[in-house]
Amino acid sequence: MKILIINGPNLNLLGKREPHIYGSQTFEDYLKILQRTYPSVSIEYFQSNHEGALLDKIHEVGFDTDYGGIVLNAGAYTHTSIALADAIGAVKVPFIEVHISNVHAREAFRHHSYIASKCVGSIVGLGITGYKLAIEYLLTK
Ligand code: DQA
Repeated sequence: MKILIINGPNLNLLGKREPHIYGSQTFEDYLKILQRTYPSVSIEYFQSNHEGALLDKIHEVGFDTDYGGIVLNAGAYTHTSIALADAIGAVKVPFIEVHISNVHAREAFRHHSYIASKCVGSIVGLGITGYKLAIEYLLTK
């Protein structure tokens, strides 16, 4: 089975960006741990700071039945992007929404997610472990 993790804008800065909120681990290091933890799963990773590039990736992979799911942290596009919500709704592969921080305990503009209703579920505020929990869920399917 393949699982794709997609990180949106500014998440390439994990490890150095506001570590009191997002932790001090880089995603590249965490990805290696995930790949070692689940050797039978092909865990792929895509990050972009560009909305259109995220849409293109979702279109490319979203109809491929080899993928058991896409774990998406859309960053700030979560709170702004109808286009991203439409792309998730358009494709077949199931999505799990992840946020490292508890967006509901932060600024009001982070409380609304355009993508939540298009995803199977959301994991919010459990730190970088949220990605692992999303994979665990997809493996039960
Ligand atoms: C985030 C929360 C978003 O509000 C923010 O814009 C991010 C990261 C999170 O993982 O906690 O970039 O998605």
